[in-house]
Amino acid sequence: MSRDIAWYEDPNLKNLFIKAASNAMRGWHCPFTTPKTTFTGTNSLVDFTNHLGAFLKEGEKRVLIVVDKDLRKYGEKVADFIKTQKGIDSKLFNNVLPDVPKFTVLEGVEVCKEYNPKVIIAIGGGSAMDTAKMILLYYERPDINLNTMVAPSYLGLRQKVKWLVAMPTTSGTGAETTFIAVVTDTDREPPKKTEAVCYELCPDFAVLVPEFVASMPPYLTMGTGMDALAHAMGSYVLTMSTELSDMCNLKAIELILKYLPRSVKRGKDMEAREKMQLAAFITGMGFGNVSGGIEHGLGHSFGALFHIHHGVCVGLYLCASIAYQSKVTDRFKPLAKLFGVKSEGKQRDEIVKELLIKLQDFMKLVGCPLSISELDDPKISLEDYNAKMDQMVDYAFNDYTTLSSTRKLDPPQVRKIYDIVYENKIDDLMELYYM
Ligand SMILES: [Fe+2]
Repeated sequence: MSRDIAWYEDPNLKNLFIKAASNAMRGWHCPFTTPKTTFTGTNSLVDFTNHLGAFLKEGEKRVLIVVDKDLRKYGEKVADFIKTQKGIDSKLFNNVLPDVPKFTVLEGVEVCKEYNPKVIIAIGGGSAMDTAKMILLYYERPDINLNTMVAPSYLGLRQKVKWLVAMPTTSGTGAETTFIAVVTDTDREPPKKTEAVCYELCPDFAVLVPEFVASMPPYLTMGTGMDALAHAMGSYVLTMSTELSDMCNLKAIELILKYLPRSVKRGKDMEAREKMQLAAFITGMGFGNVSGGIEHGLGHSFGALFHIHHGVCVGLYLCASIAYQSKVTDRFKPLAKLFGVKSEGKQRDEIVKELLIKLQDFMKLVGCPLSISELDDPKISLEDYNAKMDQMVDYAFNDYTTLSSTRKLDPPQVRKIYDIVYENKIDDLMELYYM
């Protein structure tokens, strides 16, 4: 290889994985990783604190709290609570930045070297949780080279830190249960988002505090909810899926269809907030143990160049992901059923088309733009979009999710998908199915 590439960019592996993802290989390698305990419900923070108090020995009561700057108040709340209830000390690290630049992670590692925490608690959205995972990784294994960290890998983490804990403040990423961390490798020129994949990055405890997601404004609620929907639907269509992941993804879709519109319209609807928090966690177990779908590779390559919310990006490419892969799999059928599409007596292309229409209806209902041309903050002209086409195609083709696609994906197909999603018209999307 002439350049320093990540393992999943290796062209030989791309060919191997498309075969390994077939039904014949299903069940060969599929450990199912989740937190040891997930604390849910309105008493979750109290339950978790009691657990910490019971299992941390004297001399171990030091917690590093990794938190988004804007959400420092939640970090302070947790710090006060564990101190007053169980005498546990903590230090706040609030340098978390969007896209998790590696230099921020290394700052956190320096804090760890000085403070020697026994527990790391991440409070926030995906960036805070991924920053905490990467701090744990580099603190314990400073020798690690992200480009050669091949999943599945075992690194023997938890020699210095006993537990990694995640408390989400958005309902979408599922990072509170996944063993993946996205980091922007600032050592690479130009900097590129890279995924570190290692089972031991899965948090030991997830603490779902409904109050922490109650103040999300409608756009963020919609964007993160679309992210969760994309996780569930995008990974469900992958033939790498297992019965365990199916169970999670299908349940999550059911919850999202019911509770996301309510969460967007009435932020104070705590039942809807709590169910969405749970749905994001449940599909986190589902997609996290399989892979994100190709809408993720396409969406975050687009997002990296145009700076649009991750959930909106992956939502925009979700229809295309389903249309493209449904040519070679029947896994769209249970999805169609959840969306109320009746399959009896219909050709498979009719079912796919009706599913895409229903999915776009749902996107409209929750206020998600239906196409790139509909985005208005920022507005993206066709000229601007096409000007970055080569770069988007290159990023998406070299994304981790290209490896797990159910249908082989080459650069010309990636380009075709990008062309179509600018307007995202149903008939054009169906061309992806037929081609
Ligand atoms: Fe996502």
